[in-house]
Amino acid sequence: MTPDSRAPVRGTARAYLTLGTLLRHWTLTGSPGYFGVVDLRLTGRRALVTGASRGIGLAIARGLAREGAVVSIAARNADGLAEAVDLLARDGLEVHPYVVDVSDPAALEETVTRSATEREGLDLLVANAGSSRGGGLQASTADDWMFTLGVNVVHAATAIRAAVPWLSASGNGAALVIGSISGWKPRASSSYAVSKAAAIHLAPALAVELARERIRVNTLSPGSVQFEGGRWARTQAADPEAHARFVAENLPGGRFVTLEEVADAACFLLSPRAGGINGAHVAVDGAQDRPTDRPVYP
Ligand SMILES: NC(=O)c1ccc[n+]([C@@H]2O[C@H](COP(=O)([O-])OP(=O)(O)OC[C@H]3O[C@@H](n4cnc5c(N)ncnc54)[C@H](OP(=O)(O)O)[C@@H]3O)[C@@H](O)[C@H]2O)c1
Repeated sequence: MTPDSRAPVRGTARAYLTLGTLLRHWTLTGSPGYFGVVDLRLTGRRALVTGASRGIGLAIARGLAREGAVVSIAARNADGLAEAVDLLARDGLEVHPYVVDVSDPAALEETVTRSATEREGLDLLVANAGSSRGGGLQASTADDWMFTLGVNVVHAATAIRAAVPWLSASGNGAALVIGSISGWKPRASSSYAVSKAAAIHLAPALAVELARERIRVNTLSPGSVQFEGGRWARTQAADPEAHARFVAENLPGGRFVTLEEVADAACFLLSPRAGGINGAHVAVDGAQDRPTDRPVYP
């Protein structure tokens, strides 16, 4: 047999080997993913991500959509949402936009219900929208505190409450609250820090309450994340020296956590692969808030 005439036989053998490996993997794991590839089993799961027209929320929406989930995104500004839809469409990803201010509980409940009804179910909820007003104690008013707690805590509780019937019906329901390492160790921006501490506490409290409904609730706390248009990119442009000092003094790896790193962790926590993780607080911060005797930044 000449080398040329054997080539199709080798090709056929290789095809059988590959098919055999795939079938063996499928038999062993119940998943059609190729050996070595972790299938998060998110295909077809219906997700709603609040605050997802940019930044971390958009990255999580993108990550979920890439994993095959059917994703709804919510934010206040219709133009921002339209830009996000276009951006993801360029990568061949479809998402469904909803205009809502999450600090309006009735509007938020309606959005959760509408997204679940229009997608014929809801399996995953990400309470990501967050902001703050007022800064430190003496610069802030009672209204600032109510606003900050409303967006960072009450919004998460309201969205999860509205989603309970759908998440429970899913059988694999999961909610993820986006906290912050500012809520883990005390920080000077007190209303934000306190609201994020409450968000971190919300997950285990709700996890216990909702376990019988087969709903998992976890919190993911990003460390400082730099991305185009975000706070740290603005700081770098305005004061490069202060920015470099911040990196040197606070980021053990000498770099910010990336949006993709936060999104990857979020996708895993939301997936059935993390079925045993419930009521957890997961920091994605590159050891920024490691136990330390050094002062944390203000
Ligand atoms: N970036 C970081 O370094 C960092 C670190 C730790 C924790 N976090 C937390 O991570 C989450 C996302 O942060 P980010 O930096 O990606 O934020 P961002 O860039 O400011 O984006 C916030 C997103 O939420 C939406 N949003 C804000 N207020 C809203 C409201 N009242 N109702 C509905 N949507 C609202 C915004 O769109 P509209 O303006 O159109 O509403 C936008 O889509 C927040 O909870 C934040 O506290 C961020």
